[in-house]
Amino acid sequence: MAVAACNEMEWLVRVSSKEERIGQVPGTEAPGLTVPQHQRNAHTARGRNLAYMVQAGKRLGVESELRILSFGCSSGEECLDFADVFPRARIVGVDLNAKALQKAQALDHPRVHVMNSTEDNIAASGPYDIIFAMNVLCLHPLPPGTETLASAYPFALFESAIQLLDAQLKPGGVLGIYNSHYFLDDAEVFAHYAPIADDHLNNGWLPKYRPDGELATRIVFQFDGQLRSRDEWLALIATDYARRKDEAWHEWIDPDVYSGRFTDVTLWEKS
Ligand SMILES: C[S@@+](CC[C@H](N)C(=O)[O-])C[C@H]1O[C@@H](n2cnc3c(N)ncnc32)[C@H](O)[C@@H]1O
Repeated sequence: MAVAACNEMEWLVRVSSKEERIGQVPGTEAPGLTVPQHQRNAHTARGRNLAYMVQAGKRLGVESELRILSFGCSSGEECLDFADVFPRARIVGVDLNAKALQKAQALDHPRVHVMNSTEDNIAASGPYDIIFAMNVLCLHPLPPGTETLASAYPFALFESAIQLLDAQLKPGGVLGIYNSHYFLDDAEVFAHYAPIADDHLNNGWLPKYRPDGELATRIVFQFDGQLRSRDEWLALIATDYARRKDEAWHEWIDPDVYSGRFTDVTLWEKS
């Protein structure tokens, strides 16, 4: 994997000048510059996405000098996990939630830089070797009375984020998308992506939708060989995220109407 195009000092200068500008009042930058909002809930935890980072590390090498973007980093736990798994990587976390950003900025890790989610900030530190958008490209819970996803979280919103992230991912880079409402397979850039299926890790506990907003999948949850409700399963894996491969999978609502997408893939390699 190609190492960063500019040297360390150039990179730090670029990143810190951005941090100064947005660091004073996180979340209050000029309207129009931020990336449109996706998931509003900022829940996160250490270890939550670790298994996927380890899997990406098997591809790109954990000792490589990578640039990593955590899109929707919340209070920064995902960035700290990245820093542990990739000891020579520089990690950029972006978010829109002012409280979460303040916490993340206070982590003060030498290889983690946290910024407001603007196209400029993301591009200033890119392109990246790894981009994760985990539990971000969705809206959960859906507003009461939502009949199809199209009004609450239109496919165009997902597509715009995928285009933004794709533009900042290097060829050969790894894109991680977990708990998205839509399929990467339906995005315009999909022809450039191949699934990475080294380990069987599930792709989340939110059902997936067709681009027109109609429901496409339901999810089967299992733990220790027994079928579970979603809430039981979430409680069980929260005690040990490493066991998340034990196990959930998407099933088509009506395979005759809509199917043929990769239902349970989280990591993708860009060609
Ligand atoms: C549920 S948290 C996920 C945190 C972490 N990625 C994880 O998996 O634990 C979703 C986060 O996405 C953020 N988010 C939503 N839209 C965003 C955008 N356009 N750019 C950056 N972050 C965004 C939210 O503010 C929230 O903090």
